[in-house]
Amino acid sequence: MNILLGVTGCIGAYKAAELLRQLQQRGAVVRVVMTQSACQFVGPVTFEALSGHSVMTGLFEPGANTTIKHIEAARWANLLLVAPATANIIAKFARGLADDMLSTIYLSATCPVMIAPAMNVEMWRHPATQENVAILQARGVEIIEPESGFLACGAVGEGRLAEPEVIAARAIAFLQRASAGADLSGHHVLVTAGPTCEDLDPIRFLTNRSSGKMGYALAEAALARGADVTLISGPTRLTPPPMARFIPVWSAQQMCDAVTRHLNEATIVIKAAAVADFRPRHPQASKIKKSDQSVTLDLEPTPDILTEVGRRKTHQIVVGFAAETDKPVEHGRDKLQRKNLDMIVVNDVTAPGAGFDVDTNRVTIIDRYDHVIALPLLSKREVADRIFDHLIEVFLSTQVDE
Ligand code: PMT
Repeated sequence: MNILLGVTGCIGAYKAAELLRQLQQRGAVVRVVMTQSACQFVGPVTFEALSGHSVMTGLFEPGANTTIKHIEAARWANLLLVAPATANIIAKFARGLADDMLSTIYLSATCPVMIAPAMNVEMWRHPATQENVAILQARGVEIIEPESGFLACGAVGEGRLAEPEVIAARAIAFLQRASAGADLSGHHVLVTAGPTCEDLDPIRFLTNRSSGKMGYALAEAALARGADVTLISGPTRLTPPPMARFIPVWSAQQMCDAVTRHLNEATIVIKAAAVADFRPRHPQASKIKKSDQSVTLDLEPTPDILTEVGRRKTHQIVVGFAAETDKPVEHGRDKLQRKNLDMIVVNDVTAPGAGFDVDTNRVTIIDRYDHVIALPLLSKREVADRIFDHLIEVFLSTQVDE
């Protein structure tokens, strides 16, 4: 496994030395290319000593032009991994600029590309950066989302480089998947994500704390593995993956209608959405006026979309989620059977780092053959990949005796 590690100029550059080590420990041969700004933070000698190879730092440095270095490096690599990736290099990659060694290698590379962004929270959230990231994702570049926490600039928020062990594990898994080929190619994955909103009147509605992160991670993972994806989502603050067919919905009824409309073309259905179980029986056409009297809400059940999908499924593999607060495996098993599912992903939403509106999740996968796989705390993207790994292993590649 040849990994070309691109290091760009930010404070997280020092972590790239540990990352290099982690990659080597997992069996990779690593060469390093640094931008001029990265050299301001860490010396190339560190990476030369660790990698055992000379470090590429510039297009025109003496001795670097006896061969066409950027082409040679691009051909050598099985994976181009940029960590940390600054807003600047992400913008260059997205727009096709090639004015230094790393951006020139990116344009010449035909291997898979993975980037681990690191920057100030406002730079990360800026629409320009988000748009550039979305462009790269649409091209199949794998993004290792930055973590939240204290940043070098003193701000608190997302933007911190993911930990070297996390990046190394993701890089190796990504490389293995990429070399195994697009294992969901030919499949159509229908994912539901986010909350639903149930109107009380034109101003007020009932909803829940789902951010959509789990469902969007599933959509991104499915796309990266070669599937066609339909993403049906309640309102979230996330940018849908550009390659997905995106169907925004508001209420449980709208989600139900959209899922029903697109069920036939799907080969895999994954219901990560947190659908409201109840809705106001009589939503008002005009604003409910304030009064001194207490108000009683009359609620009626919404359609159970997953039960309906389980009832109507023909060729589809159907995966439900279960948000539980106690006895997760027991309740998960029960939902799997009652809703006629092939798999259920149970999250204990009271566990730290799991469930609603966080970047990580801790889940247990249960399938209809009663395999029970408890995963550790992982990023939602990693959880998504582990769900697909299990689904492929059990339902798409092997015969299992029932
Ligand atoms: O969006 P995030 O902030 O990333 O949070 C992720 C998550 C916690 C929302 C997600 O991991 C999750 O657990 N989603 C399912 C939440 C839920 O509604 O669980 P439930 O146990 O109430 O429902 C079980 C299953 O039935 C779910 O697949 C749900 O989509 C489905 N359902 C529920 C009610 C209903 N009326 N129709 C349904 O289809």
